[in-house]
Amino acid sequence: MTRAVFDPITLRGLEIRNRLWIPPMCQYAVDAQDGVPTDWHLMHLGSLARGGAGVVTVEATGVTPEGRISPQDLGLWNDAQRDALSRITDLIHAQGAQAAIQLAHAGRKASTWRAWGPRPGGNVPAEHGGWQSVGPSEIPFDGLEAPEALDAAGIDAVVAGFVAAARRAVDAGFDLLELHGAHGYLLHEFLSPLSNDRTDEYGGSLENRARLLLRVVDAVRAEVGEAVPMIVRLSATDWAEGGWDLPQTETLSSWLGAHGVDLISISSGGNVADVQIPVGPGYQLPFASAVRRSSGLPVAAVGMIDDPFQAEQIVALDQADVVLVGRESLRDPNFPIRTADALRYDMPYKPGPYERAYR
Ligand code: FNR
Repeated sequence: MTRAVFDPITLRGLEIRNRLWIPPMCQYAVDAQDGVPTDWHLMHLGSLARGGAGVVTVEATGVTPEGRISPQDLGLWNDAQRDALSRITDLIHAQGAQAAIQLAHAGRKASTWRAWGPRPGGNVPAEHGGWQSVGPSEIPFDGLEAPEALDAAGIDAVVAGFVAAARRAVDAGFDLLELHGAHGYLLHEFLSPLSNDRTDEYGGSLENRARLLLRVVDAVRAEVGEAVPMIVRLSATDWAEGGWDLPQTETLSSWLGAHGVDLISISSGGNVADVQIPVGPGYQLPFASAVRRSSGLPVAAVGMIDDPFQAEQIVALDQADVVLVGRESLRDPNFPIRTADALRYDMPYKPGPYERAYR
């Protein structure tokens, strides 16, 4: 018997075994720094692939050193990083999953303390490996130093960083590329009027604020060719008056589709501190469904989707094409196997030894 969440999905000729995917989740584990993944990443991501996910997405990975969120982030601006990541894609593939990577630039939210362990607040000072952040404008994120506003050459360098990282990602064996346009990082900062007050062709109208993201999409596509599916992650709203919102997200998503983006991953928030977000089961799902309807593109839904029947229902009712399971996958890397079990679905790729553990 089939189940909607276990239906394969094909993007640009890449067949993916199911619709339960792992979203990017920073591990802040690279104490050796320099953005090179460690055995922790290999073990962590490999176990998620073995747990039955269709796609395992590597965490936000800085396309340039100053594009990392924290000094402990992964990066992809050199060949050593590429080669270390290729061990991870090999392991993911050996478990039958597809490998994605989220290419990111943290913009004005760069050079911050990692999300666990001691967090003195503010920016990481230079003596602890910090650096000057950059952004669309000199508008700081609450509690952080003001970024330097990127000039035309700086913007060109950001685009070049995404292109070079995309090349290395494909060479490292990644099957899908995700561009991080969400959570108040650089591409989202350009989109939102609350972080972008530029008066050049990158600020003002929606078309201008979207220009950098669309430039990155086009430049990455030109570099990697037609075969590689591309995902863009967006925050559907800043949850703040005068900020980025759902109507703009819907318009932008249609443009992204016209520029050859294959799937939109819909999250929210991250660009404005201390906003009220009505967090609850599936709380961002209505945004994903709205973008799916208006753009006609496949969408991924995320946010407190942690129950097998909830996941099945979302796909079966055409509310989203893919379900991303974040924190529940940290709690249980075998969530897809458990979901199959709960839905009485005979998962054909359950690892052999696990037969003894599930009915
Ligand atoms: C995240 N999230 C996240 N999002 C993103 O776009 N890039 C990233 O690198 C990270 N890093 C990250 C680390 C950790 C530890 C967590 C818990 C979350 C957000 C994540 O992808 C997801 O959108 C949220 O966790 C909401 O989904 P869940 O956890 O409710 O399923």
